[in-house]
Amino acid sequence: MDYRGKTAFITGGASGAGLGQAKVFGDAGCNVVIADIRHEAIGAALEELKARGIRAHGIQLDISDRAAFAAAADEAERVFGPLHLLFNTAGVSIFGPLEQASYDDYDWIFGVNWWGVVNSMQSWVPRMLAHGEGGHIVNTASLGCFFANSGAGIYSASKFAVHGISMAMRDALKDKGIGVSVLCPANIRTNIAESIRTRPAHLSNSGYKVDEREIAALHEIYAQGMDPEELAGHVKEAIAENRFYIIPYPEARPMLEAAFQQVLDALPPVDSDLEGQAKRGAAMGRYIEARRRMDAERYGESSR
Ligand SMILES: NC(=O)c1ccc[n+]([C@@H]2O[C@H](COP(=O)([O-])OP(=O)(O)OC[C@H]3O[C@@H](n4cnc5c(N)ncnc54)[C@H](O)[C@@H]3O)[C@@H](O)[C@H]2O)c1
Repeated sequence: MDYRGKTAFITGGASGAGLGQAKVFGDAGCNVVIADIRHEAIGAALEELKARGIRAHGIQLDISDRAAFAAAADEAERVFGPLHLLFNTAGVSIFGPLEQASYDDYDWIFGVNWWGVVNSMQSWVPRMLAHGEGGHIVNTASLGCFFANSGAGIYSASKFAVHGISMAMRDALKDKGIGVSVLCPANIRTNIAESIRTRPAHLSNSGYKVDEREIAALHEIYAQGMDPEELAGHVKEAIAENRFYIIPYPEARPMLEAAFQQVLDALPPVDSDLEGQAKRGAAMGRYIEARRRMDAERYGESSR
């Protein structure tokens, strides 16, 4: 993609991975819109971007707010015109024993990590399809979208969901000139240890006791993470190759091998229950064919 004059919209663009994307894609020639919940951070980020010669615009936005998201998309289009690159990067985390979690913990994490991505795609995908110039969507999940444990349970569940919807949206848009990738970082040098500070008052009834000690311990981990601009460089390469998975962390291999091996180990031998396999396969084949015909009738040929 020739990025010159194209527009990128980046949630969480005032910090960390999102700001790295703003710098890298801005340097490549994009107009950049950074949408973030923190007003002051947007101001500081815009100064940095403009000092690099990047055309940038900031919008204060809580991505869990549907109406506000649609209004932000209107504003971005008014400022820079049609959108080509959508980076759903903003995310928050909270860690602790899963059985201690409150509904507010679930609502906050899913509101940002899951509904934020959905609100963004609901706001932008119809507009990207309408302009017909093509583009790319990058949703940030995490390595935690492949496995979960008690301590990161809600966070991982939200990222499993982002992984799933990204895979489905890639399929939906595959013949429409819009690529979709999922970014699964392991550790990035960012401010995510502080994300508790963006938690809204109306969802403050937490089952967890996050304190300064924990924030300091998390900072120590993330301080060793990948530089956000380096990560954004990997994203740029993946877009050029229209790759779905972006996981530029070699240390993830043993964990992923173990996770997928566990799934494969749960399967009976491939040559067992041949009669059942044939019956189920034929039924699915008939359904897919019928569905294709019904969808073509109801939604038009382009729906396949
Ligand atoms: N840092 C890591 O090691 C790591 C690892 C795996 C995945 N990730 C993912 O990377 C993404 C980016 O996080 P980061 O590490 O750069 O953290 P960060 O805290 O530096 O940046 C996230 C930005 O999102 C913004 N934000 C938070 N809630 C928001 C909301 N409701 N609406 C709009 N903006 C909001 C924050 O203000 C912040 O500027 C997240 O989705 C995170 O889950 C990070």
